[in-house]
Amino acid sequence: MIAHVLGARPNFVKAAPVIAALSGTRPGAVDAARAQWVIHTGQHYDERMSEVFFRDLGLPEPDVNLEVGSGSHAAQTAAIMVALEKEFIERSPELVMVYGDVNSTIAAALVAAKLRIPVAHVEAGLRSFDMTMPEEVNRRLVDQLSDLCFVTSPEAVGHLAAEGVAVERIHFVGNPMIDTLLAHLDAFDTDAVRRAYDLPERYAVATLHRPANVDDPEVAAGLVKRLHEIAELVDVVMPVHPRGRKVLTDAGLDAHPRVRLLEPLGYVEFVAAVRGAAAVVTDSGGVQEETTILGVPCLTLRPNTERPITITHGTNRLVTADDVVPAVAETLAAGRGDREHPPLWDGHAGPRIARVVEGWLGG
Ligand code: UD1
Ligand code: UDP
Repeated sequence: MIAHVLGARPNFVKAAPVIAALSGTRPGAVDAARAQWVIHTGQHYDERMSEVFFRDLGLPEPDVNLEVGSGSHAAQTAAIMVALEKEFIERSPELVMVYGDVNSTIAAALVAAKLRIPVAHVEAGLRSFDMTMPEEVNRRLVDQLSDLCFVTSPEAVGHLAAEGVAVERIHFVGNPMIDTLLAHLDAFDTDAVRRAYDLPERYAVATLHRPANVDDPEVAAGLVKRLHEIAELVDVVMPVHPRGRKVLTDAGLDAHPRVRLLEPLGYVEFVAAVRGAAAVVTDSGGVQEETTILGVPCLTLRPNTERPITITHGTNRLVTADDVVPAVAETLAAGRGDREHPPLWDGHAGPRIARVVEGWLGG
């Protein structure tokens, strides 16, 4: 039996095509469906941060929800570990699959490794080289603990090799988050989103949730000022992540008439909004990738990215608070341009992962 450990919003989007391929419900999937066990850690728990993704993506109901909720890094990671250890001992999975770089990912990898259960990491080898990001700590450790490292872009192979990960553990399979995007293309209805939120033809989407942008009220207030300046150029719609909700609203984010604050959106509605946007301003990892495939200009409010392929083969550009407003103005003037897509971001990563997993378990 294969255990999938999911906990946070981006995990759901990455795991959906892998679970589908392993259960034989997707073209190119493995023939013999293998027993799968979906564990939700409860790291994200609001309906808009969790359940909506299970509905939108057709994910199976979790077999168990550990309901750990929020907490400091140590408290949250430890709570997941204690609960997972009990589950793994009871169920003895033959492989534990983990996704991305969140606390649920490192907690599961650490527990499995100590119990001598093999670990497969989907989205291995990404590096921002910025150890102030909690995700960078998680990424490095998870890759060291993983028997199978599934890589979404070629430079990640080099990062893993440089850290001593044996080459036979590394599998460049493409990007399952893009499988999910391409599988739902027909469902993304931008006009419906325009009508639902009273958006004009031209609008920008903004999302912010990184601790570096939303934890310090002064930094957040500086970004609110920039978002208001952007709203002088173009209407801004912003589904607000719960992490930044209080600090951004306290700083008066909704005071500008051309800024629309929304609850977090479900996957289909969110990507539909992004698809129709003239520009996106974000600090999200997944959104950098989605905009690359949708051909939507993406301005990433971060000093670095673990996804440089979205710059070299996509529409992404790193910006600071000081240059985001002129960057939006330039983007609106330039419009969209066609770019070549990153290799293997073709909608078939899930089946590739499933075949490697089957071969590895079979062998
Ligand atoms: C987590 C991940 C981050 C990822 C993001 C995706 C870690 C260390 N961080 O950040 O890498 O980019 O998810 O969205 O794992 N909260 C709610 N409702 C929820 C979930 C969270 O209100 O359903 C609030 C709580 O106040 C909580 C805060 O958001 O303390 C932060 O949640 P947490 O899961 O710790 O980290 P994220 O910022 O969501
Ligand atoms: N997303 C969504 N609704 C929103 C914001 C994001 O459905 O309101 C989706 C989007 O597809 C994104 C994914 O959730 O790629 C993960 O987003 P998030 O920015 O939370 O996490 P990150 O990728 O930065 O870890």
